[in-house]
Amino acid sequence: MSLEEMKDLHLEEKYLQPETTEIDGILMTMLISDNWDKTWNSQTKSDDLLIATYAKAGTTWTQEIVDMIQNDGDVQKCQRANTFDRHPFLEWSLPPPLNSGLDLANKMPSPRTLKTHLPVQMLPPSFWKENSKITYVARNAKDCLVSYYQFSRMNSMVPDPGTWEEYIETFKDGKVLWGSLYDHVKGWWDMKDQHHILYLFYEDMKEDPKREIEKILKFLEKDITEEVLNKIIYHTSFDVMKQNPMANYTTLPSSIMDHSISPFMRKGMSGDWKNYFTVAQNEEFDKDYQKKMAGSTLTFPTEI
Ligand code: A3P
Repeated sequence: MSLEEMKDLHLEEKYLQPETTEIDGILMTMLISDNWDKTWNSQTKSDDLLIATYAKAGTTWTQEIVDMIQNDGDVQKCQRANTFDRHPFLEWSLPPPLNSGLDLANKMPSPRTLKTHLPVQMLPPSFWKENSKITYVARNAKDCLVSYYQFSRMNSMVPDPGTWEEYIETFKDGKVLWGSLYDHVKGWWDMKDQHHILYLFYEDMKEDPKREIEKILKFLEKDITEEVLNKIIYHTSFDVMKQNPMANYTTLPSSIMDHSISPFMRKGMSGDWKNYFTVAQNEEFDKDYQKKMAGSTLTFPTEI
């Protein structure tokens, strides 16, 4: 679909504020559920790269870094299409005329880079069989919650978040699309040493983008010059990506994403949760967090 057509797109009411259902206890849109057999049985290729994240953990940022690496820092090549068309969103099923992730993936020549928010136990078995490379990005729960809350307010293709107070409970209960953050980050963490998985943290990427981009380069077995590396760091900085229409989701019609409610490229920082949680909410959240993360070796910085 052209960018012009995209602007004029009017989706039927039923697809906005989508109906949801659970697949194996994980909340999904009805459209994802309707197409789940196709997704589960989809065939991966061994040279596929998968960018896996919990929602709002820094997916788009990682996608831009990976695309810049794969295109040797050629900004124009990375402007060839919207993020969501460059990297098919595996499980994301959409009504026509929009492209569902799997349809896009099936049309794409190899080597492909795909995106998913699936919890580890729901990843189609073909990925494990083919041993495809996977980068996983995790972000601390409080910043993810704030980002997901604002995103759910501006994006009509995910359920309405309700009030801030309501949303904290919904999030803690894991009753959001793609389920519990706690189970998601732990599940992928436990799998990381058994497969070809590079496990990254949003906070580390903020703290030292160069160091983290170098980890991705090594994982992708790519060599680039210092000059290209600096170009990638600059082009994938928050301020530059916020102005990049091919990465900031502003080409979607406002009936889908209304950036006047909250921009997709919102703040891009760590520790914004402090501007949202009251002292009491924070204490409650921490107590619940300790219980949900008990026994895991996974720890997060909550600010940098
Ligand atoms: P905030 O809402 O906290 O600003 P995802 O791509 O997984 O949906 O994640 C979106 C979050 O990543 C948003 O967080 C967005 O601003 C942030 N983000 C996107 N690009 C970024 C960048 N280059 N640097 C830092 N944060 C970025």
